[in-house]
Amino acid sequence: MGIVIAIDGPAGAGKSTIAQRLARRLGFIYIDSGAMYRAVALWALRQKLDPSDPHRMGELARAASITLEGEARVLLNGEDITEAIRAPEVSRAASLVATIPPVRRALVEKQRAIGAQNNVVMEGRDIGSVVFPNADLKIFLDASADERIRRRAAEVNGDRDVVSRQLSERDARDRSRTEAPLTQAPDAVYIDSTRLSIDEVEEAILRLVRARISNGKEFS
Ligand code: CDP
Repeated sequence: MGIVIAIDGPAGAGKSTIAQRLARRLGFIYIDSGAMYRAVALWALRQKLDPSDPHRMGELARAASITLEGEARVLLNGEDITEAIRAPEVSRAASLVATIPPVRRALVEKQRAIGAQNNVVMEGRDIGSVVFPNADLKIFLDASADERIRRRAAEVNGDRDVVSRQLSERDARDRSRTEAPLTQAPDAVYIDSTRLSIDEVEEAILRLVRARISNGKEFS
């Protein structure tokens, strides 16, 4: 088992930016678990399948060969889909696909396999609660709804009201689903990034890493 740093939280809290920076700083592998749900969703949309069909989506998730490479590239069955999975219709379909238990089982298995062999910074919704309940460090990264909407609208250069609706719909579904809903693990450290810069969040987490992980375990 490698060292696992789990970062969970809602959309727009800054997980991807922070997780990538930390991974680079520590020499760990960065894993965006959301990209895996997005990959299955994209495959479903391309095949004109219903992303809420449990049976078909379970099959797709098991059959999908998903590879996460350096610089956050995502491959599906050998094809680079890094940009394609960021389309708004894929975000929506990913959040539907992510409510399906057989999909989650298949993807959690892939995530655990990566963590078993590498030191990782893995981000998502259920990494500290379900995927790696024994993670070395768990962070729950949050920000106010207004700030999360502002950040996501700036990122995709989108209309604030449209982004607000999309984000609220996805957040509500992530928090209310029966299987692995977005929740803070009891032993996760809560960080509210609303008024913090990226550097400040990174520093806060690095302090926790030094205090909790560097003790006894070796990493670069
Ligand atoms: O980047 P953003 O926060 O917008 O979303 P994402 O992390 O790419 O995740 C896309 C969708 O996958 C989310 O809306 C969740 O429904 C789902 N997801 C999940 O259920 N479990 C995870 N560990 C990661 C993502």
